[in-house]
Amino acid sequence: MVGNAMNGAKILVVDDERLIRWSIREHLAADGFEVVEAATLAEAMSQVHNGVDLVLLDNRLPDGSGLAALPALRLAAPDTIVIMLTATNSVEAAVEAMKAGAWHYLTKPVNLDELAIKIHHALETAHLRREVKTLREVVTAPWGEETIVGQSATIQEVRRLLGKIARTPGSTVLLTGESGTGKDLAAKVVHYNSARATKPFMNITCSALQETLLESELFGHEKGAFTDARTQKRGLLELAAGGSVFLDEIGEMSLGLQSKILRFLEEKTFKRVGGAQDVSIDVRIIAATNRDLQADVAAGRFREDLFYRLRVLPVELPPLRERQGDVPVLVDFFLKRFAQEFKKPVRRVADRAMQALARQAWPGNVRELRNAVERAVLLADTEELTQSDFLLSPARATQPQSQAFVLPDEGLDMDQLQDELVRQALARSAGNQTRAAQLLGLSRDQIRYRLERMAAPIANG
Ligand SMILES: Nc1ncnc2c1ncn2[C@@H]1O[C@H](COP(=O)(O)OP(=O)(O)OP(=O)(O)O)[C@@H](O)[C@H]1O
Ligand SMILES: [Mg+2]
Repeated sequence: MVGNAMNGAKILVVDDERLIRWSIREHLAADGFEVVEAATLAEAMSQVHNGVDLVLLDNRLPDGSGLAALPALRLAAPDTIVIMLTATNSVEAAVEAMKAGAWHYLTKPVNLDELAIKIHHALETAHLRREVKTLREVVTAPWGEETIVGQSATIQEVRRLLGKIARTPGSTVLLTGESGTGKDLAAKVVHYNSARATKPFMNITCSALQETLLESELFGHEKGAFTDARTQKRGLLELAAGGSVFLDEIGEMSLGLQSKILRFLEEKTFKRVGGAQDVSIDVRIIAATNRDLQADVAAGRFREDLFYRLRVLPVELPPLRERQGDVPVLVDFFLKRFAQEFKKPVRRVADRAMQALARQAWPGNVRELRNAVERAVLLADTEELTQSDFLLSPARATQPQSQAFVLPDEGLDMDQLQDELVRQALARSAGNQTRAAQLLGLSRDQIRYRLERMAAPIANG
C-alpha cells in the first residue's frame, strides 16, 4: 500500500459462505478496494502469501477455526491487518481475538457500512503507525533502557549490563532465564540502544519452524533449491543487514543448523539454501533460551563450540520470585498501562493485595504478573484493586515449603486444581520445568502447555 492509505488496498474475505463473500465483495469493491476471496483457511494462507493489506477472517471455517489460525497468519504476514468475524458477541471472544493479534472483531451478521468504516480506519491507523514507527526508529530508539522496570540490585545490574552490551558494536549476546523473565524485552533493549537501532531487528523463534523451513527463513534460498522455490529468497540474516537478528529458543535448534550458525558467527558468511556462493553480512546475533544449555551440551544436544561462541556476552534474567521487591513497581507500571489502554478508572492496588502479590511464586514470572494485572484491570470498575480482584491463593505464596502438595479447600475445578499443582511443583523445583514435571509425573510439554494456559488471563477466569 502506498500513498493514500486506502486507495486500491487489497482485502481478502475469508468465509465459507459464498453469499456472504459476495455481498462483502460487492460493497467493498464499490468503495474502491480490490477484493479477493477464500473459502477455507488453506486458501486464505496462500492468498496471504501473495500479499494482502487486510483480512476479514471468519472464525468458523471448514478446515479449522480462524482464531486458531491467527498466529500462523500473523507470522506469515506481520503487517497484514486482521479483522475477525465472530458469531458470538462475547467479551472473551473479542479479547481472545485481539490478543492473538486481530485488529478488531465484528459480530455476524455484519453491518456492511460499519465494516467499511472499520476497514478505512484500520488501514489509515496502520499506515500512520508505520510512518511514525519508521520516523521514530530513525530519530530515537523506541526502547529506552528504562523500559526494563525494576529496582532490585539484580535487575539494575541487568540494565547496566545491557546498556554496556548495546554500546559494543556487534558481539554475540546470549540471554538466559526462565519463561517470562524478559528475554525478548532485553533483546529489543540491546538492539534499539545500539548503533544498529536504525537498521532492522529481526526475530525468529527456532522452535516454531521445522528444520528445513527454519534454515531457508534464516539463510534464504536460491531459485530451484527445492520444489516450491520458484524465485530466489533472501533470508532473515540478509534482511537484517546492519541490524540484529534475535534467535529465540536457540536451545531447540537442530544440531545441523547449529553448525551452520556457528560457521556464520565465525566467518560472518553463509550460503543460501541451494546456493554455492558465500554471502557475507554484518548482523549482531542475539540468542535466547530458557533451557540449561550447559546441561544440553553435556547431553550432546547442543554443540559445545557454539555454546562458547554464543556466550561471549551472557546475561541471565533473574526469576521474579528472587526479586520480590520489583513486584510493586511492576504492578504499578502495568496498572497504569492497562488502565489507560482499556480506559478504566483503576488507579492503585490496596496495600494488602500488593503484599499478597509480592509473596506469590510467579512461575510464569513477569509475563504472569502482567497478565494478572491486565485481567484485574480489565474486569474492575473501582479505583482501587483489592485481593479479590486477583486470582491469588495462599498456597501459591513462596514461603511454605512442606513436603506434601497443599490444595486450597475452596472449590476449585479440575483445571484450577491442576494449575495449582503445577505452580506448587514449580515453586518447589525453583522454577525448573523438567524437575517440576518429574514431581508431578508429567512431561515437560504438558507443564509448558499448562503454563501457557495459565498465562492467558481470560481463559483462566
Ligand atoms: N523488567 C521488566 N519490565 C517491564 N516489563 C517486563 C519486564 N520483564 C518482562 N516484561 C514484560 O513481560 C512480558 C514477558 O517478557 P518476555 O516476552 O520478554 O519474556 P521471555 O523471557 O522472552 O519469555 P519466554 O521464554 O516465554 O519467551 C513482556 O510483556 C515483557 O514486556
Ligand atoms: Mg521470549
